[in-house]
Amino acid sequence: MRRGRGELGRSLESALREAVRTGRLTAGTLLPGSRALAADLGVARGTVVQVYTQLIAEGWLSGAAGSGTRVAALPATAAEPAVAAEPGGGGGPWTSVDLRPGRPDVSAFPRTAWASAVRRALAAAPSRDLDYGDPAGLPALRRVVAGYLARARGVIADPELVVVVGGFASGLALLARALRGTGRTHLATEDPGLARHRDLVRAAGLATVPLPVDADGADPDALTGACGAALLTPAHQHPWGVVLAPERRAAFAAWARGADGYVIEDDYDGEFRYDQQPVGALQALAPDRVVFAGSASKTLAPGMRLGWLVVPPALREPLLRVIEETGAAVPAVHQLAFADLVARGEYDRHIRRARLAYRRRRAELARRLPYPLPGVAAGLHALLPVPTAGHERRLVEAGRRAGVGLFGLHASGYWHEPSDERPAALVLGYATPPRHAWRHGLETLGRLVDEVLPR
Ligand SMILES: Cc1ncc(COP(=O)(O)O)c(C=O)c1O
Repeated sequence: MRRGRGELGRSLESALREAVRTGRLTAGTLLPGSRALAADLGVARGTVVQVYTQLIAEGWLSGAAGSGTRVAALPATAAEPAVAAEPGGGGGPWTSVDLRPGRPDVSAFPRTAWASAVRRALAAAPSRDLDYGDPAGLPALRRVVAGYLARARGVIADPELVVVVGGFASGLALLARALRGTGRTHLATEDPGLARHRDLVRAAGLATVPLPVDADGADPDALTGACGAALLTPAHQHPWGVVLAPERRAAFAAWARGADGYVIEDDYDGEFRYDQQPVGALQALAPDRVVFAGSASKTLAPGMRLGWLVVPPALREPLLRVIEETGAAVPAVHQLAFADLVARGEYDRHIRRARLAYRRRRAELARRLPYPLPGVAAGLHALLPVPTAGHERRLVEAGRRAGVGLFGLHASGYWHEPSDERPAALVLGYATPPRHAWRHGLETLGRLVDEVLPR
Protein backbone atom coordinates (compact mmCIF):
# COMPACT_ATOMS: atom_id res chain seq x y z
CA MET A 1 0.00 0.00 0.00
CA ARG A 2 1.25 3.49 -0.83
CA ARG A 3 1.91 5.62 2.24
CA GLY A 4 0.68 9.26 2.37
CA ARG A 5 3.16 11.98 1.47
CA GLY A 6 2.14 14.28 4.31
CA GLU A 7 1.81 18.05 4.24
CA LEU A 8 5.43 18.73 3.23
CA GLY A 9 5.35 16.17 0.46
CA ARG A 10 2.12 17.59 -0.93
CA SER A 11 3.45 21.16 -0.97
CA LEU A 12 6.71 20.06 -2.58
CA GLU A 13 4.71 18.16 -5.20
CA SER A 14 2.49 21.12 -6.05
CA ALA A 15 5.42 23.61 -6.01
CA LEU A 16 7.31 21.39 -8.45
CA ARG A 17 4.30 20.81 -10.68
CA GLU A 18 3.65 24.54 -10.76
CA ALA A 19 7.29 25.34 -11.57
CA VAL A 20 7.23 22.94 -14.53
CA ARG A 21 3.79 24.06 -15.70
CA THR A 22 4.72 27.77 -15.72
CA GLY A 23 8.08 27.12 -17.38
CA ARG A 24 10.20 28.27 -14.45
CA LEU A 25 11.81 24.85 -14.58
CA THR A 26 12.59 24.22 -18.22
CA ALA A 27 12.63 20.89 -20.06
CA GLY A 28 15.78 18.92 -19.42
CA THR A 29 16.68 20.65 -16.11
CA LEU A 30 18.34 18.12 -13.81
CA LEU A 31 16.69 18.09 -10.39
CA PRO A 32 18.70 17.57 -7.21
CA GLY A 33 19.14 13.97 -6.09
CA SER A 34 16.52 12.80 -3.62
CA ARG A 35 19.05 12.47 -0.80
CA ALA A 36 20.43 16.01 -1.24
CA LEU A 37 17.00 17.60 -1.64
CA ALA A 38 15.60 15.75 1.36
CA ALA A 39 18.51 16.97 3.48
CA ASP A 40 18.09 20.55 2.24
CA LEU A 41 14.36 20.60 2.92
CA GLY A 42 14.51 18.63 6.14
CA VAL A 43 12.11 15.90 4.96
CA ALA A 44 12.54 12.15 4.77
CA ARG A 45 14.23 10.93 1.59
CA GLY A 46 11.23 8.67 0.97
CA THR A 47 9.01 11.76 0.74
CA VAL A 48 11.10 13.20 -2.09
CA VAL A 49 11.23 9.82 -3.86
CA GLN A 50 7.42 9.56 -3.67
CA VAL A 51 7.00 13.09 -5.02
CA TYR A 52 9.38 12.44 -7.92
CA THR A 53 7.65 9.12 -8.65
CA GLN A 54 4.24 10.77 -8.67
CA LEU A 55 5.36 13.58 -11.00
CA ILE A 56 7.08 11.11 -13.34
CA ALA A 57 3.80 9.18 -13.46
CA GLU A 58 1.95 12.40 -14.32
CA GLY A 59 4.45 13.26 -17.06
CA TRP A 60 5.93 16.42 -15.52
CA LEU A 61 9.29 14.78 -14.85
CA SER A 62 11.23 11.97 -16.42
CA GLY A 63 13.65 9.64 -14.76
CA ALA A 64 15.96 6.90 -15.92
CA ALA A 65 18.17 4.81 -13.70
CA GLY A 66 21.63 6.38 -13.46
CA SER A 67 20.80 9.65 -15.19
CA GLY A 68 18.78 11.36 -12.47
CA THR A 69 15.40 13.03 -12.54
CA ARG A 70 14.81 15.73 -15.14
CA VAL A 71 12.04 18.06 -16.16
CA ALA A 72 10.09 16.45 -19.00
CA ALA A 73 9.34 18.16 -22.31
CA LEU A 74 5.69 19.23 -22.16
CA PRO A 75 3.21 19.51 -25.00
CA ALA A 76 3.17 23.14 -26.22
CA THR A 77 -0.16 24.01 -24.62
CA ALA A 78 0.78 22.83 -21.14
CA ALA A 79 3.57 25.29 -20.46
CA GLU A 80 2.91 28.96 -19.72
CA PRO A 81 5.50 31.68 -20.24
CA ALA A 82 8.14 31.89 -17.50
CA VAL A 83 7.44 34.32 -14.69
CA ALA A 84 10.44 35.80 -12.88
CA ALA A 85 10.45 34.66 -9.27
CA GLU A 86 10.65 37.17 -6.43
CA PRO A 87 13.91 36.79 -4.49
CA GLY A 88 13.15 34.65 -1.49
CA GLY A 89 9.58 34.26 -2.73
CA GLY A 90 7.59 31.10 -3.25
CA GLY A 91 7.60 28.78 -6.22
CA GLY A 92 9.96 26.10 -4.98
CA PRO A 93 13.41 26.22 -3.45
CA TRP A 94 15.39 26.28 -6.72
CA THR A 95 13.46 28.97 -8.57
CA SER A 96 15.10 31.76 -6.58
CA VAL A 97 18.62 31.92 -5.20
CA ASP A 98 19.43 33.94 -2.14
CA LEU A 99 22.85 35.59 -2.37
CA ARG A 100 22.14 38.13 0.33
CA PRO A 101 24.86 38.23 3.01
CA GLY A 102 24.56 37.45 6.67
CA ARG A 103 23.29 33.89 6.61
CA PRO A 104 24.84 30.46 6.52
CA ASP A 105 23.42 27.54 4.53
CA VAL A 106 20.57 26.80 6.93
CA SER A 107 19.76 23.60 5.05
CA ALA A 108 23.00 22.20 6.53
CA PHE A 109 21.82 22.78 10.10
CA PRO A 110 22.85 19.72 12.15
CA ARG A 111 19.28 18.64 12.91
CA THR A 112 20.10 15.19 14.21
CA ALA A 113 22.87 16.40 16.52
CA TRP A 114 20.65 19.22 17.77
CA ALA A 115 17.71 16.90 18.42
CA SER A 116 20.01 14.56 20.39
CA ALA A 117 21.41 17.51 22.34
CA VAL A 118 17.89 18.68 23.28
CA ARG A 119 16.94 15.15 24.38
CA ARG A 120 20.09 14.70 26.45
CA ALA A 121 19.84 18.18 27.96
CA LEU A 122 16.24 17.62 29.01
CA ALA A 123 17.04 14.23 30.50
CA ALA A 124 19.94 15.60 32.54
CA ALA A 125 18.67 19.04 33.62
CA PRO A 126 17.67 19.44 37.26
CA SER A 127 14.15 20.88 37.58
CA ARG A 128 15.51 24.17 38.91
CA ASP A 129 17.10 24.88 35.51
CA LEU A 130 13.56 25.19 34.13
CA ASP A 131 12.60 27.90 36.62
CA TYR A 132 13.07 31.66 36.04
CA GLY A 133 16.81 31.78 35.61
CA ASP A 134 19.82 34.02 36.14
CA PRO A 135 19.49 36.98 33.72
CA ALA A 136 23.11 36.31 32.67
CA GLY A 137 22.17 32.83 31.45
CA LEU A 138 22.54 29.33 32.90
CA PRO A 139 25.92 28.76 34.58
CA ALA A 140 26.44 25.49 32.66
CA LEU A 141 26.27 27.32 29.33
CA ARG A 142 28.35 30.27 30.53
CA ARG A 143 31.15 27.86 31.53
CA VAL A 144 31.06 26.09 28.18
CA VAL A 145 30.97 29.35 26.20
CA ALA A 146 33.89 30.77 28.19
CA GLY A 147 35.95 27.66 27.42
CA TYR A 148 35.01 27.70 23.74
CA LEU A 149 35.83 31.40 23.28
CA ALA A 150 39.19 31.08 25.04
CA ARG A 151 40.10 28.14 22.81
CA ALA A 152 38.64 29.25 19.47
CA ARG A 153 38.97 33.04 19.60
CA GLY A 154 41.59 33.82 22.26
CA VAL A 155 39.04 35.67 24.40
CA ILE A 156 39.86 36.27 28.07
CA ALA A 157 36.62 34.81 29.32
CA ASP A 158 35.55 34.43 32.93
CA PRO A 159 32.20 32.54 33.01
CA GLU A 160 30.97 35.19 35.48
CA LEU A 161 31.36 37.81 32.77
CA VAL A 162 29.57 35.85 30.05
CA VAL A 163 26.01 37.00 29.36
CA VAL A 164 23.79 34.84 27.14
CA VAL A 165 21.60 36.83 24.73
CA GLY A 166 19.12 36.18 21.93
CA GLY A 167 21.62 36.79 19.11
CA PHE A 168 23.90 39.74 18.42
CA ALA A 169 21.14 42.17 17.48
CA SER A 170 19.40 41.64 20.79
CA GLY A 171 22.71 41.90 22.65
CA LEU A 172 23.51 45.17 20.89
CA ALA A 173 20.11 46.66 21.69
CA LEU A 174 20.54 45.72 25.36
CA LEU A 175 24.10 47.00 25.51
CA ALA A 176 23.13 50.29 23.88
CA ARG A 177 20.43 50.80 26.50
CA ALA A 178 22.87 49.93 29.27
CA LEU A 179 25.42 52.40 27.88
CA ARG A 180 22.75 55.09 27.64
CA GLY A 181 21.88 54.33 31.27
CA THR A 182 25.48 55.00 32.28
CA GLY A 183 25.32 58.47 30.72
CA ARG A 184 26.89 57.79 27.35
CA THR A 185 25.26 59.58 24.44
CA HIS A 186 27.19 58.70 21.23
CA LEU A 187 28.32 55.41 19.74
CA ALA A 188 30.63 55.25 16.73
CA THR A 189 29.83 52.68 14.03
CA GLU A 190 31.71 51.66 10.91
CA ASP A 191 30.94 53.43 7.63
CA PRO A 192 30.00 51.40 5.62
CA GLY A 193 28.27 49.16 8.12
CA LEU A 194 24.94 47.45 8.73
CA ALA A 195 22.03 49.90 8.78
CA ARG A 196 20.11 47.61 11.10
CA HIS A 197 22.75 47.94 13.80
CA ARG A 198 22.72 51.75 13.55
CA ASP A 199 18.94 51.66 13.86
CA LEU A 200 19.09 49.48 16.98
CA VAL A 201 21.62 51.81 18.59
CA ARG A 202 19.53 54.89 17.78
CA ALA A 203 16.36 53.23 19.06
CA ALA A 204 18.14 52.85 22.40
CA GLY A 205 18.64 56.63 22.53
CA LEU A 206 22.26 56.93 21.37
CA ALA A 207 23.44 59.05 18.44
CA THR A 208 25.73 57.34 15.92
CA VAL A 209 29.05 58.72 14.65
CA PRO A 210 30.53 57.36 11.38
CA LEU A 211 33.97 55.75 11.42
CA PRO A 212 35.32 55.59 7.85
CA VAL A 213 36.80 52.23 6.83
CA ASP A 214 39.88 51.76 4.63
CA ALA A 215 42.24 48.88 3.93
CA ASP A 216 43.29 48.87 7.61
CA GLY A 217 39.73 48.73 8.92
CA ALA A 218 37.87 51.41 10.88
CA ASP A 219 39.75 54.65 11.48
CA PRO A 220 40.11 55.56 15.19
CA ASP A 221 41.04 59.16 14.26
CA ALA A 222 37.36 59.75 13.44
CA LEU A 223 36.25 59.15 17.06
CA THR A 224 34.87 62.39 18.47
CA GLY A 225 34.99 63.66 22.05
CA ALA A 226 31.31 62.80 22.42
CA CYS A 227 31.83 59.07 21.68
CA GLY A 228 31.27 56.80 24.65
CA ALA A 229 31.55 53.56 22.70
CA ALA A 230 32.48 52.16 19.30
CA LEU A 231 31.00 49.17 17.49
CA LEU A 232 33.62 47.36 15.36
CA THR A 233 34.00 44.17 13.32
CA PRO A 234 37.78 43.73 13.85
CA ALA A 235 38.36 40.18 12.55
CA HIS A 236 36.54 40.77 9.24
CA GLN A 237 35.02 44.18 8.63
CA HIS A 238 31.42 43.93 7.53
CA PRO A 239 31.00 44.51 4.64
CA TRP A 240 34.48 45.46 3.37
CA GLY A 241 36.17 42.24 4.45
CA VAL A 242 39.43 43.75 5.77
CA VAL A 243 41.07 43.00 9.12
CA LEU A 244 41.61 45.78 11.66
CA ALA A 245 45.35 46.61 11.52
CA PRO A 246 47.41 45.92 14.67
CA GLU A 247 48.17 49.60 15.31
CA ARG A 248 44.47 50.44 15.05
CA ARG A 249 43.55 47.65 17.46
CA ALA A 250 45.99 49.22 19.93
CA ALA A 251 44.62 52.71 19.20
CA PHE A 252 41.01 51.71 19.88
CA ALA A 253 42.02 49.99 23.12
CA ALA A 254 44.02 53.05 24.20
CA TRP A 255 41.14 55.37 23.30
CA ALA A 256 38.68 53.29 25.35
CA ARG A 257 40.98 53.42 28.39
CA GLY A 258 41.66 57.13 28.07
CA ALA A 259 38.09 58.20 27.32
CA ASP A 260 36.30 55.87 29.76
CA GLY A 261 34.76 54.35 26.65
CA TYR A 262 33.93 50.84 25.45
CA VAL A 263 34.53 48.93 22.25
CA ILE A 264 31.90 46.41 21.20
CA GLU A 265 33.72 43.72 19.21
CA ASP A 266 31.18 42.13 16.85
CA ASP A 267 32.85 38.78 16.09
CA TYR A 268 30.01 37.70 13.80
CA ASP A 269 32.04 35.35 11.57
CA GLY A 270 35.35 34.93 13.42
CA GLU A 271 35.22 31.14 13.03
CA PHE A 272 35.49 31.38 9.25
CA ARG A 273 38.96 32.25 7.99
CA TYR A 274 40.26 30.24 5.05
CA ASP A 275 43.83 31.31 4.35
CA GLN A 276 45.32 31.22 7.84
CA GLN A 277 44.42 31.11 11.53
CA PRO A 278 41.90 33.85 12.32
CA VAL A 279 43.26 36.86 14.19
CA GLY A 280 42.48 36.55 17.88
CA ALA A 281 39.96 38.72 19.67
CA LEU A 282 40.72 42.39 20.26
CA GLN A 283 39.06 41.86 23.64
CA ALA A 284 42.23 40.13 24.92
CA LEU A 285 44.08 43.48 24.62
CA ALA A 286 41.69 45.25 26.98
CA PRO A 287 39.16 42.95 28.68
CA ASP A 288 38.14 45.81 30.99
CA ARG A 289 37.19 47.97 27.99
CA VAL A 290 36.02 45.62 25.23
CA VAL A 291 32.74 43.74 25.04
CA PHE A 292 33.27 40.60 22.97
CA ALA A 293 30.12 39.54 21.11
CA GLY A 294 29.53 36.25 19.32
CA SER A 295 26.50 34.57 17.81
CA ALA A 296 25.27 31.20 16.56
CA SER A 297 23.68 32.89 13.55
CA LYS A 298 26.60 32.14 11.17
CA THR A 299 27.85 28.95 12.76
CA LEU A 300 24.44 27.24 13.06
CA ALA A 301 21.43 29.29 11.92
CA PRO A 302 20.02 32.80 12.46
CA GLY A 303 16.79 31.21 13.66
CA MET A 304 18.62 29.94 16.74
CA ARG A 305 18.52 33.50 18.11
CA LEU A 306 21.42 32.67 20.37
CA GLY A 307 24.45 34.78 21.15
CA TRP A 308 26.85 35.64 23.94
CA LEU A 309 28.64 38.67 25.30
CA VAL A 310 31.77 38.74 27.43
CA VAL A 311 31.49 42.03 29.27
CA PRO A 312 33.91 44.20 31.20
CA PRO A 313 33.18 43.91 34.96
CA ALA A 314 31.85 47.49 35.20
CA LEU A 315 29.22 46.88 32.52
CA ARG A 316 27.83 43.63 33.94
CA GLU A 317 25.36 45.05 36.43
CA PRO A 318 23.99 47.79 34.12
CA LEU A 319 23.50 45.17 31.40
CA LEU A 320 21.78 42.64 33.67
CA ARG A 321 19.46 45.40 34.90
CA VAL A 322 18.39 46.11 31.32
CA ILE A 323 17.84 42.38 30.68
CA GLU A 324 15.55 42.23 33.73
CA GLU A 325 13.73 45.44 32.77
CA THR A 326 13.05 44.22 29.26
CA GLY A 327 12.43 40.53 29.99
CA ALA A 328 15.03 39.59 27.38
CA ALA A 329 15.85 36.13 28.69
CA VAL A 330 16.89 33.21 26.45
CA PRO A 331 14.92 29.91 26.69
CA ALA A 332 16.54 27.52 29.17
CA VAL A 333 16.16 24.41 27.04
CA HIS A 334 18.03 26.04 24.16
CA GLN A 335 20.79 27.11 26.50
CA LEU A 336 21.19 23.61 27.90
CA ALA A 337 21.08 21.95 24.48
CA PHE A 338 23.65 24.36 23.06
CA ALA A 339 25.93 23.71 26.04
CA ASP A 340 25.64 19.98 25.31
CA LEU A 341 26.37 20.49 21.59
CA VAL A 342 29.55 22.46 22.33
CA ALA A 343 30.71 20.23 25.18
CA ARG A 344 30.46 17.12 22.98
CA GLY A 345 32.48 18.65 20.19
CA GLU A 346 29.51 18.58 17.77
CA TYR A 347 29.57 22.36 17.40
CA ASP A 348 33.25 22.36 16.39
CA ARG A 349 32.66 19.46 14.00
CA HIS A 350 29.81 21.31 12.32
CA ILE A 351 31.92 24.46 11.98
CA ARG A 352 34.79 22.47 10.44
CA ARG A 353 32.45 20.98 7.83
CA ALA A 354 30.88 24.36 7.08
CA ARG A 355 34.30 26.00 6.81
CA LEU A 356 35.36 23.56 4.09
CA ALA A 357 32.16 24.08 2.13
CA TYR A 358 32.26 27.89 2.33
CA ARG A 359 35.98 28.05 1.50
CA ARG A 360 35.27 26.08 -1.68
CA ARG A 361 32.36 28.36 -2.59
CA ARG A 362 34.44 31.48 -2.05
CA ALA A 363 37.13 30.14 -4.36
CA GLU A 364 34.53 29.26 -7.01
CA LEU A 365 33.01 32.72 -6.73
CA ALA A 366 36.41 34.38 -7.11
CA ARG A 367 37.10 32.30 -10.23
CA ARG A 368 33.76 33.17 -11.84
CA LEU A 369 33.86 36.96 -11.32
CA PRO A 370 35.78 39.37 -13.54
CA TYR A 371 37.39 41.47 -10.77
CA PRO A 372 39.41 40.32 -7.75
CA LEU A 373 37.51 40.21 -4.45
CA PRO A 374 38.93 42.68 -1.93
CA GLY A 375 39.48 41.74 1.70
CA VAL A 376 40.77 38.56 3.26
CA ALA A 377 39.53 35.05 2.46
CA ALA A 378 37.11 34.77 5.35
CA GLY A 379 33.49 34.83 6.39
CA LEU A 380 30.32 34.11 4.51
CA HIS A 381 30.29 37.06 2.15
CA ALA A 382 32.52 38.82 -0.36
CA LEU A 383 32.43 42.28 -1.85
CA LEU A 384 32.33 42.75 -5.61
CA PRO A 385 33.23 46.40 -6.26
CA VAL A 386 31.44 47.84 -9.30
CA PRO A 387 32.22 51.10 -11.13
CA THR A 388 29.19 53.20 -10.05
CA ALA A 389 26.04 53.19 -7.92
CA GLY A 390 24.14 52.94 -11.23
CA HIS A 391 25.85 49.63 -12.07
CA GLU A 392 25.04 48.38 -8.59
CA ARG A 393 21.35 49.26 -8.97
CA ARG A 394 21.21 47.62 -12.40
CA LEU A 395 22.73 44.43 -11.04
CA VAL A 396 20.37 44.27 -8.05
CA GLU A 397 17.41 44.85 -10.38
CA ALA A 398 18.65 42.27 -12.93
CA GLY A 399 19.08 39.83 -10.03
CA ARG A 400 15.52 40.48 -8.92
CA ARG A 401 14.23 39.68 -12.39
CA ALA A 402 16.34 36.53 -12.62
CA GLY A 403 15.30 35.33 -9.16
CA VAL A 404 18.66 36.03 -7.50
CA GLY A 405 18.53 38.01 -4.25
CA LEU A 406 21.39 40.55 -4.18
CA PHE A 407 22.53 43.18 -1.67
CA GLY A 408 24.52 46.29 -2.54
CA LEU A 409 26.33 48.97 -0.53
CA HIS A 410 23.91 51.63 -1.81
CA ALA A 411 20.82 49.50 -2.32
CA SER A 412 21.00 48.07 1.18
CA GLY A 413 21.78 51.21 3.19
CA TYR A 414 25.38 50.48 4.24
CA TRP A 415 26.54 54.12 3.99
CA HIS A 416 25.71 56.46 6.88
CA GLU A 417 25.02 59.27 4.41
CA PRO A 418 23.88 57.89 1.08
CA SER A 419 25.46 59.55 -1.94
CA ASP A 420 26.08 58.16 -5.42
CA GLU A 421 29.64 59.50 -5.12
CA ARG A 422 30.56 56.76 -2.67
CA PRO A 423 32.02 53.44 -3.79
CA ALA A 424 29.52 50.89 -5.06
CA ALA A 425 29.67 47.12 -4.65
CA LEU A 426 27.58 44.01 -4.38
CA VAL A 427 27.77 42.31 -0.99
CA LEU A 428 27.53 38.65 -1.96
CA GLY A 429 26.48 36.07 0.58
CA TYR A 430 27.91 32.89 -0.91
CA ALA A 431 27.06 30.63 2.02
CA THR A 432 23.30 31.11 1.86
CA PRO A 433 22.09 28.90 -1.02
CA PRO A 434 21.51 25.26 -0.19
CA ARG A 435 23.86 22.84 -1.94
CA HIS A 436 21.56 22.07 -4.85
CA ALA A 437 21.04 25.76 -5.71
CA TRP A 438 24.64 27.00 -5.48
CA ARG A 439 25.86 26.20 -9.01
CA HIS A 440 22.78 27.66 -10.61
CA GLY A 441 23.10 30.78 -8.43
CA LEU A 442 26.78 31.20 -9.28
CA GLU A 443 26.19 30.76 -13.00
CA THR A 444 23.27 33.20 -13.02
CA LEU A 445 25.25 35.78 -11.05
CA GLY A 446 28.23 35.36 -13.41
CA ARG A 447 25.99 35.88 -16.42
CA LEU A 448 24.38 39.02 -14.93
CA VAL A 449 27.79 40.46 -14.06
CA ASP A 450 29.07 39.75 -17.59
CA GLU A 451 25.99 41.49 -19.04
CA VAL A 452 25.96 44.58 -16.81
CA LEU A 453 29.62 45.37 -16.08
CA PRO A 454 32.14 46.73 -18.57
CA ARG A 455 35.02 44.39 -19.36
C1 LIG B 1 27.92 42.32 10.89
C2 LIG B 1 27.03 41.33 11.57
N1 LIG B 1 27.08 41.24 12.90
C3 LIG B 1 26.30 40.35 13.58
C4 LIG B 1 25.44 39.52 12.91
C5 LIG B 1 24.66 38.49 13.68
O1 LIG B 1 23.50 38.99 14.14
P1 LIG B 1 22.46 38.08 14.91
O2 LIG B 1 23.23 37.28 15.93
O3 LIG B 1 21.53 39.06 15.54
O4 LIG B 1 21.77 37.20 13.93
C6 LIG B 1 25.33 39.62 11.54
C7 LIG B 1 24.35 38.79 10.82
O5 LIG B 1 23.95 39.03 9.74
C8 LIG B 1 26.15 40.53 10.85
O6 LIG B 1 26.12 40.62 9.51
